[in-house]
Amino acid sequence: MTRRTAVLDLTLSHFRSWKRGRIDTGGAPVALHGPNGAGKTNVLEAVSLLAPGRGLRRAPAPEMARKPDEIGWRVAAVVSTPSGEIEIDTRFTPGDSGRGVQIDGKTATQTALGGHVRTVWLTPAMDRLWTEAASDRRRFLDRMVLGFDAHHGDTSIAYEKAMRQRNRLLSEPPWDQNWLDSLEAQLARLGARIARGRAEALAALREAQDTAETSFPRADLAIAGDFAPEIDLDEPDMAETGLAVDLARALAEGRPRDAAAGRTLTGPHRSDLSAIYAAKAMPAAACSTGEQKALLISLCLANARALAGRTGAAPVLLFDEVAAHLDAARRAALYAEIAALGAQAWMTGTGPELFDALGADALRLAVTEEGGVSSLDPT
Ligand SMILES: Nc1ncnc2c1ncn2[C@@H]1O[C@H](COP(=O)(O)OP(=O)(O)OP(=O)(O)O)[C@@H](O)[C@H]1O
Ligand SMILES: [Mg+2]
Repeated sequence: MTRRTAVLDLTLSHFRSWKRGRIDTGGAPVALHGPNGAGKTNVLEAVSLLAPGRGLRRAPAPEMARKPDEIGWRVAAVVSTPSGEIEIDTRFTPGDSGRGVQIDGKTATQTALGGHVRTVWLTPAMDRLWTEAASDRRRFLDRMVLGFDAHHGDTSIAYEKAMRQRNRLLSEPPWDQNWLDSLEAQLARLGARIARGRAEALAALREAQDTAETSFPRADLAIAGDFAPEIDLDEPDMAETGLAVDLARALAEGRPRDAAAGRTLTGPHRSDLSAIYAAKAMPAAACSTGEQKALLISLCLANARALAGRTGAAPVLLFDEVAAHLDAARRAALYAEIAALGAQAWMTGTGPELFDALGADALRLAVTEEGGVSSLDPT
């Protein structure tokens, strides 16, 4: 059997519409169905917090506290990973700056969490990914990179911080040349690492698309936008060093321009992700709604396959309202591909019939809501 990451047991306390909820999955795929507003996506969001970051809604920690009490929240889980079972506890207490994490009872960082649990999610909010801002596509790409390199998040935070410092320095002449030099050297080094991580993730995705039998469309992916450097992945260390040198030079030369603009106009924060629907040679943005959705599903599956190959464990898949967009045949194909991957998927949909083609081992749970409190229908 494929090695994978699976949530065996999940407990929610005072998390959004859930006062208390417990799902004992035994590792099976989970299909949550129920009316709008029942609390299905909230469960997927809770699972997404078992990996680093702000979760699939990108919500600040206080927002997830159950209203009106707002006494904080807790998500606890037993997770099976290739290196054994671990207990994860993540919680927010009012007054804290963010959520805290414990792994097996010990305080841990989110980066450490990333070494254990990887999730790949697809939500209705991503439907406009190809037509909206480049920042959304960068975030989508960076989430994929984060799965391969748990430190990518820290690198990005350090990059943003150095960039803010440089912008501030440029806005306050006369410039301190030495300080600018050293900030730009740092920015260039971090920027080159980010660009390399993205290039490597795209290469892994390409490979996963090339080697898979899938009924979902292939996407040709490339880094685009104002910063789209060529990175030779046969010599990645050298390519990264070379890119850092180029970037440092571009930053130094760009000082007057960036000072006038009030921001840094070169670097990986100016990159974009482009996708072409390969079979039609059509840019994703020009594809139909259904085709765009199929491309996203395809990329998420490719990402999951690539992660399974690289890390030895299929990630947890969080597919929010994905089934509703597919006809019966495509739904069956999706479930078959998830099964072939060996991944644990958490899926939502309004009606149970959406999950008819899902294997008999799947846990089908009806979610209901009464008086603003979600619960699982015991039947
Ligand atoms: N902090 C919070 N405290 C209490 N309730 C909340 C909080 N945040 C969101 N909710 C409630 O949770 C409910 C939405 O839950 P969720 O998004 O999981 O629904 P859903 O079952 O996925 O519905 P849909 O089918 O429409 O997507 C809403 O009624 C919302 O008001
Ligand atoms: Mg929902």
